[in-house]
Amino acid sequence: MSLMQWVEEKYSTNVDLCDNQHKELFDRVNALNDAVVNRDRVDIGNRLDNLVDFVVKHFETEERLMEERGYSGLERHRQEHDLLVKTCTDIQDKFHAGEMDIEEATMTYIKNWLDHHIPIIDKPYGPALGN
Ligand SMILES: [Fe+2]
Ligand SMILES: [Fe+2]
Repeated sequence: MSLMQWVEEKYSTNVDLCDNQHKELFDRVNALNDAVVNRDRVDIGNRLDNLVDFVVKHFETEERLMEERGYSGLERHRQEHDLLVKTCTDIQDKFHAGEMDIEEATMTYIKNWLDHHIPIIDKPYGPALGN
């Protein structure tokens, strides 16, 4: 079973570009989770890198849109993004150095972060960034 499933009412921001990127994020989280379940370390490394690449790209997209629209919540939002990117790159470094493995607890952390960030922090930008 997938770790993350898209539920329109819960996750939609009404900004198509962001919703599509969030769906892609869910796909990449689920792909990583599958590799974690299968305990395939090479696959885990590849999918972890794929996920973090897209997280960075997605945050850049949101911040660019917020800048273009003069969104007042940008600075607070950027801080949340920066914290997650730092956490992700720490995990990536330790994983590739052989100092840690990606296990269920890491996946739960990522899922919980998205489950909070998208409905609580992203959704409010909908009216300002709307299509
Ligand atoms: Fe965000
Ligand atoms: Fe987002």
